[in-house]
Amino acid sequence: MARVVFLGPPGAGKGTQASRFAAEHGVPHLSTGDLLRAAVAARTPLGREADGYMQQGQLVPDPLVLRILSERLALPDARDGFLLDGFPRNVAQATRLESMTRLDSVLFFDLPPERLVDRLSGRRVCPTCQSVYHVTAAPPRIEGRCDVDGHDLVQRSDDRPDAIRMRLKVYAEQTAPLLEYYRARGLLRSIDADGAPGQVAVRLRAALT
Ligand code: AP5
Repeated sequence: MARVVFLGPPGAGKGTQASRFAAEHGVPHLSTGDLLRAAVAARTPLGREADGYMQQGQLVPDPLVLRILSERLALPDARDGFLLDGFPRNVAQATRLESMTRLDSVLFFDLPPERLVDRLSGRRVCPTCQSVYHVTAAPPRIEGRCDVDGHDLVQRSDDRPDAIRMRLKVYAEQTAPLLEYYRARGLLRSIDADGAPGQVAVRLRAALT
């Protein structure tokens, strides 16, 4: 069983690879973004508090994220392994994670900023089953419709240009320092996240063997 973190800028393809990786390795895919979006959709008190930060592309305050993450990490299916996607996002979260569990590897998805903007602005998601598409790189069979359940696809509210700019800035300032943090601990591995999803998956497997 693996205890793995996917680290990288918004739009680098972490979520796309995480679904495959989690299925292949029999570990749960723990995405703080997905957990927070579910709380927002359910209009829980935590979700209502997180919503404004997410729409602007800011990080949700650490106490809220830590609460939602530690509850999920404590469920039995994560006891022997997990894939963390989108957590940690700053050094304080990484330090806290270190006190909760050990990690086997941290995988960095390397993609230049201009490619990130294209991936984020072209992303479309299914609001019911959460399947992820891209208008040119991974289009659905019928334009604007989910292949899985036929629902109309939507654009995430934080995939608008102003929120994308903010997310990239927040990443550079708060999350990028984690590269050095994990390099110093001998856990960091890096993959070129450019290329088709299948090619990236091959690199991912190679990096983790
Ligand atoms: P979160 O949901 O974690 O978003 P993110 O990190 O910004 O990452 P994304 O989901 O945007 O990108 P991704 O790398 O998963 O790319 P994807 O595979 O979808 O967080 C959202 C918000 O929640 C944050 O801004 C913050 O407010 C809050 N939050 C979450 N965690 C937090 C934390 N720990 N602390 C505080 N706040 C937190 O791919 C993107 C697009 O590219 C898709 O259209 C896809 O089809 C396409 N694509 C993927 N791979 C390829 C490829 N190889 N070639 C071509 N296209 C591709």
